[in-house]
Amino acid sequence: MTPAPIQWPAVKALAAAAALLCGAAAPAQGLPPLKVGLMLPATGTYAALGTAIENGFRLHVAEQGGKLGGREITFFKVDDESDPAKATDNVNKLIKRDGVDVVVGSVHSGVALAMARAVKASRTLLIVPNAGADAVTGPMCAPNIFRSSFSNWQPGYAMGQVMAAKGHKKAIAITWKYAAGEEMVRGFREAFEKAGGQVVKELTLPFPNVEFQALLTEIAAARPDAVFSFFAGGGAVKFVKDYAAAGLKKGIPLYGTGFLTDGTLEAQGADAEGVLTTLHYADALDTPRDQAFRLAYAKAYKLQPDVYAVQGYDAAQMLGAGLAAVKGDLNHRDDLIKAIESARIDSPRGAFTLSASHNPVQDIYLRQVVGRENKAVGVASKALADPGRGCRM
Ligand code: BEZ
Repeated sequence: MTPAPIQWPAVKALAAAAALLCGAAAPAQGLPPLKVGLMLPATGTYAALGTAIENGFRLHVAEQGGKLGGREITFFKVDDESDPAKATDNVNKLIKRDGVDVVVGSVHSGVALAMARAVKASRTLLIVPNAGADAVTGPMCAPNIFRSSFSNWQPGYAMGQVMAAKGHKKAIAITWKYAAGEEMVRGFREAFEKAGGQVVKELTLPFPNVEFQALLTEIAAARPDAVFSFFAGGGAVKFVKDYAAAGLKKGIPLYGTGFLTDGTLEAQGADAEGVLTTLHYADALDTPRDQAFRLAYAKAYKLQPDVYAVQGYDAAQMLGAGLAAVKGDLNHRDDLIKAIESARIDSPRGAFTLSASHNPVQDIYLRQVVGRENKAVGVASKALADPGRGCRM
């Protein structure tokens, strides 16, 4: 099927024609505000993650004087409820009803997969500020799809290397049964088994179920050397607390991708103390760039930022890099895409570039919970690039 053309308002077409005559991008003056569609969860177990992403995105825009590439921004918002069944309708509200220029979303991998399908058809620019679904920068990759966060494979793979290096031989993996958990476990298994470990059991429960008791009883009975886990948001809070309450924490060390303890430590309290995780961000990285970001975020929102805030901030930076190259004129689509592809994003996590499939190539930190912080204790995997399996661009 031929992709539907983007519905450009007449004023944009005129600006494009003028720019073509001049052989360069027209300046942003005279262009209407850029329409940015935020498709994030505002309800459910991932609601806080959606808020942090939006806060981070808006912070970067505010730092640029309320403009990106010289253009004012108008936001359109949809609460996607982290529900893949509603995702196609939700993203089409932004694309077809609101006529947004760019979609930014979402948190849940299943939702992001539906969004990627929709923007492949409409050719709308999409920046994914969290969801790690491997396919988005794998078989579904496309020139108009970018990610400012991670692929599910990345932090899982890094943790496989860490746990093997610690001498663990037999591990149980536990997660929600959907793309994020399954793919993080797959990445973990790939590295852990390559290094001689064995994943003896994969335990799952449906998203966003938090009835962990039966699975914790299974872990206690199997007595593995260690446990690898993926949970996030409200589910991660309950899992870490239940794991400790079941008396497992001392005898069977708990590890995870960093979502297990990011943005959750106030609620997890002492039950999270000492837990090791892998992620592309950590608290107190102690770089001038991160310190400036954390200060600005705390001042703006009276909250400490987390990895989700960083990913939202960097989604805005990526969009800004593209728009700056075309002076805000999205009719220079190929130049805008090239500019994002070649950008070096000055992220609070550390500067990163994008892989050929448009996913960050980034250091994955090993972090340990100390008090209310995920302290970086080392780099688990330097400049780790997702393999982008199946991506043909
Ligand atoms: C995901 O569904 O891709 C996801 C959700 C929360 C944290 C990390 C990944």
